[in-house]
Amino acid sequence: DEKKTPYELIGQRHGIEKLVTSFYALVSKDPVLSPLFPEDLTETAYKQTLFLTQFLGGPPLYTEEFGHPMLRARHMPFPITDVHAERWLSCMERAMTGQKLESHLQEFLLSRLKMTAYHMVNTERSEN
Ligand code: HEM
Repeated sequence: DEKKTPYELIGQRHGIEKLVTSFYALVSKDPVLSPLFPEDLTETAYKQTLFLTQFLGGPPLYTEEFGHPMLRARHMPFPITDVHAERWLSCMERAMTGQKLESHLQEFLLSRLKMTAYHMVNTERSEN
């Protein structure tokens, strides 16, 4: 049905949790990304599940629990370069591919996440 939200197409809460779990498994093994994250990613994965739910057109679970996302502000404590954004997106793409999402859905999700990821960049890449 063409009126379904991306949230429904991905498989609602269950589909998002699966994606988030495989995404953070990849993040934790990424030598560039992992130093920015806490060792225990349970809370991070929980927040991302709530955020992606509302980002993809599901109920506003993140806002209900944590307030306005203000994602750029919440990422300011972490020095994020374009390299981090690329690697974040690469982990997300591999997580989606592992889940065998329908290719149109995957392209749509990645194009939206790409805008958000580059919006988080707050630090210039050092040349050395
Ligand atoms: C939190 C890194 C992009 C959504 C975080 C945290 C880090 C981080 C280090 C804190 C983890 C914690 O303390 O629990 C990055 C990096 C990115 C990136 C390096 C590369 C561009 C994104 C994108 C989204 C996103 C594109 C949205 C689709 C979130 C959310 C949180 C979070 C919802 C939890 C915020 C909170 O309530 O504290 N991110 N992030 N991030 N990130 Fe990202």
